[in-house]
Amino acid sequence: MTSQPQRPAFGSVLASHMAVAHYQSGAWGAFELKPTASIEISPAAHVLHYASTCFEGFKAFRRADGKVHVFRMDKHIQRMRQSAHRLALPEPDAAQLAEMVRVVIDRCREAVPEAPGALYLRPLLFGTTPNIGAAATPPNEATLMVLASPVWDYFTGGLKPLRILIDDENVRSPAHLGMVKTGGNYASAMGPTLAARSKFQADQVLFCPGGVVQETGAANFLLFREGHMLTRSLDSSFLHGVTRDSLLTLADDLGFRPEEREFDVAEMLEWAKNGEAALSGTAAVLAGVGTLIHRGQEFRVGSGQVGPLTQKLRAHLVAIQQGQIEDRHGWLQPV
Ligand SMILES: Cc1ncc(COP(=O)(O)O)c(C=O)c1O
Repeated sequence: MTSQPQRPAFGSVLASHMAVAHYQSGAWGAFELKPTASIEISPAAHVLHYASTCFEGFKAFRRADGKVHVFRMDKHIQRMRQSAHRLALPEPDAAQLAEMVRVVIDRCREAVPEAPGALYLRPLLFGTTPNIGAAATPPNEATLMVLASPVWDYFTGGLKPLRILIDDENVRSPAHLGMVKTGGNYASAMGPTLAARSKFQADQVLFCPGGVVQETGAANFLLFREGHMLTRSLDSSFLHGVTRDSLLTLADDLGFRPEEREFDVAEMLEWAKNGEAALSGTAAVLAGVGTLIHRGQEFRVGSGQVGPLTQKLRAHLVAIQQGQIEDRHGWLQPV
């Protein structure tokens, strides 16, 4: 057996270059491509006090022939514009942001890892207006950056089944902001996630406010059973994952019956007896859940291992992303 090379933790290393644009006097200026380095910011910058920030995360893949393709960039840019809008931040121009991403990928081409690695792209937007009295005034100056990071596995255990704590007391985010990819939502999930880790050795918390299943701190949640896939229908309370959307489409292609609707913890535990559960996201791809923990009691999901339907869908999505099977939905763009 060959041993796995030691990889840096997900997101801990940045590629050599980043793109930066500034918004001032009602318009975005031209962007610059720069060596990745620290930035200077006023201590009064709006973001540092009032959390006026949002971000995105998606991947570019290197194929066996060396060509690099980016996965569903337009959908991520659309989500970033929506996040900015909901936070009263200046919306990035879609064409400019796409060009910033392409220029960064092109400059960092050598840093795109071989499959199963990828180059993770991280657009980031934040309010820079220097005014500590602007709690109820949106920033009229902002910075947009695109960072890149070579990545491998998100969960350090690779394909190990996850332990998930069901939390029906806390909320991950305010109900109108769950669909916004903003730092405050992650800060809000941190306390419950750390407690779940130390008390139950849980990998993640599945937030289920009022007993209705929602999502985890950094991924959407799906159930599978007998050719059937179930996930919560979209509303403003959770992030509209691009991976979730891709999997719903692929489920249909592969003959699974996809269903989007609300379901509660009791129904989820019933499904888990002889079904499968998984988390979906750009970073996690599709990660199988082996154990659900609810009010101190452990429930095994199916066999307790990553299930065959989860593995099949994951393998199908990864094969499309890596160019091994046809991209029938036009999700990949060459860069
Ligand atoms: C809270 C949350 N939900 C869901 C997702 C999955 O979204 P996507 O599939 O677009 O990466 C993410 C990851 O980005 C996330 O942070």
